[in-house]
Amino acid sequence: MDYNGKTVAITGAASGIGYATAQAAAQQGARIVALDRDVGALETMRVEFAGKGWAITPVEVDIGSEASIRVAVEQGMASVERVDLLVNSAGIVSRGMFETTTGDEWQRVLSINLSGSFFCLQQMVPLLRAGRGRAVVNVASLAAKRVSYTGGVSYTAAKAGMLGLTRHAAFELAHEGIRVNAVCPGPVLTAMTQRVISEEEQRQVAAMVPLGDWLSPQDVAASILFLGSPAARMITGTTLDIDGGLSLVTGASFESYRNARQ
Ligand SMILES: NC(=O)c1ccc[n+]([C@@H]2O[C@H](COP(=O)([O-])OP(=O)(O)OC[C@H]3O[C@@H](n4cnc5c(N)ncnc54)[C@H](O)[C@@H]3O)[C@@H](O)[C@H]2O)c1
Repeated sequence: MDYNGKTVAITGAASGIGYATAQAAAQQGARIVALDRDVGALETMRVEFAGKGWAITPVEVDIGSEASIRVAVEQGMASVERVDLLVNSAGIVSRGMFETTTGDEWQRVLSINLSGSFFCLQQMVPLLRAGRGRAVVNVASLAAKRVSYTGGVSYTAAKAGMLGLTRHAAFELAHEGIRVNAVCPGPVLTAMTQRVISEEEQRQVAAMVPLGDWLSPQDVAASILFLGSPAARMITGTTLDIDGGLSLVTGASFESYRNARQ
């Protein structure tokens, strides 16, 4: 894939999947617009990218606030003339149980993990229109189709909503040649998962994955950049599962499945 001369805007760019996508796109020649609320991590990233000769525009934003997104797009991105690919990766996880999930927790997760992607896409449509790439990739989750292991009900609901947002935006923007797709990663080892999943749990999760491992952020970045590239020019409104085969699992372990056939 060749991102030479393209501008790639990424939310949640300072860590995990967003960061890996920024690195991979920059390696292929893209200019990166890195949107995140973590100003310290953005500065570290700016210094690292500049040291490698990669073009980067760091932009502070709270994706959970429509007003903050507006300021980020109008002021933080004032020097950005166009966006060829927008990647909505910013997200948080909340682990509460269904009955004890508070209204505040529910709203916070929904506002960052779902509404933020809506407002970013809505406000960047003019920049996408000005670009040649005309692609958007929303980072949903396998939880969008099943139940989140890492997060609670708010996380599952927000990610399911992300697929609806993807389909509807894809339909409305297709006549302008703007493609909108989603990726549904299974378990990815990032700060998000390392914060809440113990090493023992990490081993158990890897054992559940048919391909036997956690995904790396780079695994997800490769699929995002494929969907954002001309190679995917006729793909829109769809979701790509990147899960090491986890969605194939029936609930029974492979051992019991095999033993039942011997
Ligand atoms: N890690 C996984 O197993 C996994 C699996 C499926 C989907 N995802 C999704 O992938 C995306 C990236 O997750 P990750 O694992 O890379 O997590 P991460 O914690 O490593 O990175 C998330 C980034 O988003 C930023 N962010 C969070 N809230 C923000 C806000 N309000 N405004 C601006 N920036 C904000 C953080 O500062 C951080 O840089 C998320 O949407 C997550 O739900 C992750």
